[in-house]
Amino acid sequence: MTALLTTQGLQAFYGDAQALFGIDFELAVGELVAVIGANGAGKSTFLKCLAGLVRAPREAVRFKGEAIGGLPAGEIVRRGLALVPEGRRLFPSLSVEENLLMGATTRRSGPWNLARLYALFPILQEKRRQPATSLSGGQQQMVALGRALMSNPELLLCDELSLGLAPIVVREIYAAMPTITGEGMTVVIVEQDVTMAQRVSQRIYCLQEGRVSLQGRSDALTRGQIAQAYFGV
Ligand SMILES: Nc1ncnc2c1ncn2[C@@H]1O[C@H](COP(=O)(O)OP(=O)(O)OP(=O)(O)O)[C@@H](O)[C@H]1O
Ligand SMILES: [Mg+2]
Repeated sequence: MTALLTTQGLQAFYGDAQALFGIDFELAVGELVAVIGANGAGKSTFLKCLAGLVRAPREAVRFKGEAIGGLPAGEIVRRGLALVPEGRRLFPSLSVEENLLMGATTRRSGPWNLARLYALFPILQEKRRQPATSLSGGQQQMVALGRALMSNPELLLCDELSLGLAPIVVREIYAAMPTITGEGMTVVIVEQDVTMAQRVSQRIYCLQEGRVSLQGRSDALTRGQIAQAYFGV
């Protein structure tokens, strides 16, 4: 497998408190991998380490063969890695379109632009002049996803796209994934909805208290294995 990203023994700390205890992770080009785990397991911390938002040792994270751990977040975006943050983090004073354009400030070349995004999520074109935070939760999530795509990443990290959304809206958002991965994009999703994670991903990593408690092909893992890895029961 051609590894796009690997982590080796990745540890992370908040002050004196350790959140990750040696995560070994591997991602091939074009894969969609899900990271699951209970509240506080370290899922967001893991994505933040990849994106440069939580400090990581330089050699612990390798992207396209280069050690990127601890590089500034902006530098990591320029290298082709984009994060859709937990809780969306839209700019409340900006319109939908302005929020989307914020993602394009790094100007990497690639297939994604406003026209492509509006084709993927037509409702955003309809509402493009409205303040982003006046949209429904699901539509705001589309904006957050679109903003990350506008940087034309090679690796897209999504932190809990489904948080607080109705199941039908979650399905609508995940329906966009085949189009996104169809462009050759590699995707990591953090997802609390295990059924959805198993359905859309090729492989799963389960985190428990900052460690990988289970990993494997999504279609091969059983409910029992996942429940045990999730809760440690
Ligand atoms: N900014 C912070 N300062 C101190 N500790 C933090 C901070 N963010 C997270 N932690 C701690 O790090 C650990 C991992 O948290 P993290 O947010 O990565 O978990 P998570 O799996 O994303 O959880 P959730 O499902 O609730 O989003 C937890 O013990 C959490 O309390
Ligand atoms: Mg989280």
